[in-house]
Amino acid sequence: MLDKIDQLSSQAFDELNGVTSQSELEAWRIRYLGRKSELVQTLRSLSTLSIEERRVVGARANQVKNSLEKGAEEKLLSLEQSLSQLTSPEKIDITLPGKKIPLGRLHPTSQILEEICSIFNNMGFQVAEGPEAEWEYYNFEALNMPEGHPARDMFATIWMDSNADTGKGSMLLRTHTSPVQIRVMEDTKPPIRIIAPGRVYRYEATDATHEWMFHQVEGLAVDKNITLADLKGTLFEFARRLFGMDRKFRFRCDYFPFVEPGGELAIDCIVCKGAGCRVCGNSGWLEVLGCGMVHPDVLRYVDIDPEVYSGFAFGMGVERFPMLRYGIEDIRLFYSNDLRFLGQF
Ligand code: PHE
Repeated sequence: MLDKIDQLSSQAFDELNGVTSQSELEAWRIRYLGRKSELVQTLRSLSTLSIEERRVVGARANQVKNSLEKGAEEKLLSLEQSLSQLTSPEKIDITLPGKKIPLGRLHPTSQILEEICSIFNNMGFQVAEGPEAEWEYYNFEALNMPEGHPARDMFATIWMDSNADTGKGSMLLRTHTSPVQIRVMEDTKPPIRIIAPGRVYRYEATDATHEWMFHQVEGLAVDKNITLADLKGTLFEFARRLFGMDRKFRFRCDYFPFVEPGGELAIDCIVCKGAGCRVCGNSGWLEVLGCGMVHPDVLRYVDIDPEVYSGFAFGMGVERFPMLRYGIEDIRLFYSNDLRFLGQF
């Protein structure tokens, strides 16, 4: 008798598993829990059994009946649920095209840096890097700006606390990429041809044309017989490749303590083509970079003999270029992380 009840129970559960609709569930319920079902009949016929048997069989039959009823309830619930999923307003329409995943892209600064680096790579310059937290020695002293040198005022400096006495002065956030010149020349013998892209920092109030952090690309070439003509040729070629073949150049004197002679390169304004506009301050010219022949004293700092070797160096601000190219009027947009701005490039 007990075996029969167990068999009935497992058969009933098997069939319940296969039930997929409410009408099937109703048929199942009649078959296994209805008045004429075997289980209910068994319970009815308990009176024909001995007291001993009645207790055991009755208990088991009731147990099975309860679990079948519970199973039926759960089945009903799950059927209702899948039904409401199919008919709810949020049902999944598998024929809809997928949602577009927004693609990341390179920051406009990274894009222009890649462009500049690839132009110089093609001219035989290798990329070098240096630390952003820099020693006073590299940022100033070895660049011919010893303590108290008035030219240090050209570079509003963010100083850092440092107690280490390394003989290299205090720590600061580099104000230009020129310290990389010194680091490279300390480690490498000429011939040297490098560019050094990277972040620089200035202790400055920000406005539409000033940020306290921006990017520069430094350039340095040192070898025997390097002349000002090499500098001019390199820079003109660079500017033509970046801004177009029909650029006009203005190359004139400027002062930086670490070059002699020092110069400044300007191109005719790419907005007004030299006629004069707001962007070029009505001058018709855009200053692009500072440059010059490496000062003999700088070469001496790094034990390169200025009687044998000479070199040129240049340094340019990077954000300026995309600002001109895309007509961006506020440099602060670059680093305020507004995706509406960044998504355009
Ligand atoms: N380091 C200078 C600056 O930040 C630019 C420069 C680099 C000038 C190399 C001459 C030679 O303004």
